[in-house]
Amino acid sequence: MEYFIAKTFAGLETELFKELHALGAKNCEKLSRAVAFEGDLAMMYRANYFCRTALRVLWRRKQFTFNSNRQFYEQIFDFPAEEVLSPDGTLAVHATIVDSIFNTPLYASVLAKDAVCDRFRDKFGRRPSVDKDYPDVQFHLHVYKNEAQLFLDSSGESLHKRGYKVRNHPAPLNEVTAAAMILKSGWDGTCDFIDPMCGGATLSIEAAMQALNIPAGFYRREYGFYQWKNFDRQLWKSVRDEADIKDDVTINFYASDIDGRFLDIARANVQKARLQDFIVTERQDMRYSNPENTPSVVMMNPPYGERLSVDDINILYQEIGNALKQRYAGCKAYIISSDKEALKRVGLKPSRKWPMLNGSLECMFQEYELFSGDRKQYVTQKKEQA
Ligand SMILES: C[S@@+](CC[C@H](N)C(=O)[O-])C[C@H]1O[C@@H](n2cnc3c(N)ncnc32)[C@H](O)[C@@H]1O
Repeated sequence: MEYFIAKTFAGLETELFKELHALGAKNCEKLSRAVAFEGDLAMMYRANYFCRTALRVLWRRKQFTFNSNRQFYEQIFDFPAEEVLSPDGTLAVHATIVDSIFNTPLYASVLAKDAVCDRFRDKFGRRPSVDKDYPDVQFHLHVYKNEAQLFLDSSGESLHKRGYKVRNHPAPLNEVTAAAMILKSGWDGTCDFIDPMCGGATLSIEAAMQALNIPAGFYRREYGFYQWKNFDRQLWKSVRDEADIKDDVTINFYASDIDGRFLDIARANVQKARLQDFIVTERQDMRYSNPENTPSVVMMNPPYGERLSVDDINILYQEIGNALKQRYAGCKAYIISSDKEALKRVGLKPSRKWPMLNGSLECMFQEYELFSGDRKQYVTQKKEQA
């Protein structure tokens, strides 16, 4: 059994925990912005390929205590880095330190890099070079007081880079955030999914991937472990073969945007994900839209007024609320926004809400149960049904 840490955004630990547990990870434990778990190498490949809410998966290769720079250096020197890295390869070391003898993380990372490279020089007469942007092997070092953990980053580029975004929207929703929104909502793929302010169509693509069981990493071309000397191609293939992708679903996905330029981006991304037979893309103003079928889930990421300029953000949110009230009765609506004041203008009482991050932006993700008529009556009716 090996020890791994999968990283995620703050607030998504529960979703990641559930995903890892369902994939067969052992001894899962929620940490801050991460979940620790145990398993074999196949489990590490599985976490990278299937987890929709993981940003990266780190494999702990060494854990030690130290009381001096010298001891720290020697411990790292003893790590058999040649198992993963060749003398002609490249490496980078990322360090985080808390309450340690090192003044800066940079110092710890340089010392660790020197120890790895000196080992190669002693053994092979030559040493790998440093490449901070695209290393063959990325080490992560966590130092807390006098305890150190040395990890290999198995993912490489962040796992939110799924590989289906061929064109960028100026205010994109992070793919991991989008996947987590859908998981938090509890949508189970049995009713239509509407993304009426779709931008680059992240929400509808992630929803279709979930409904069709398309693995999170299905479109990705690169993983950190591809560059490792001990990369097990056969095992990786067998993990990918575990995917049970559906050919079809009976529901529809709708992605629309008011701006034709953004709709072109959505279409390019949907095409890249080969989901054009499932996701209907159309130019439409959300404020005058209707659901094709009821009930549907309508999930949106309106402008926040941060990266996209909007004439009057409060009026826009008020009009979103009016449209939902007047034409989406029987549906559930979800809105994510960093503008808490504008969210109040929606004028509907959220039934649930979650604080979430979209990249670095602190947002609120809110659920609204839409009904026709009187709220009191609706609540009484629901209680009676329950
Ligand atoms: C924050 S972006 C959405 C980004 C998207 N979630 C993504 O991942 O790329 C907000 C989008 O809402 C669209 N929008 C603004 N007002 C709209 C309206 N009345 N009806 C439909 N779309 C609208 C904008 O054109 C923009 O593309």
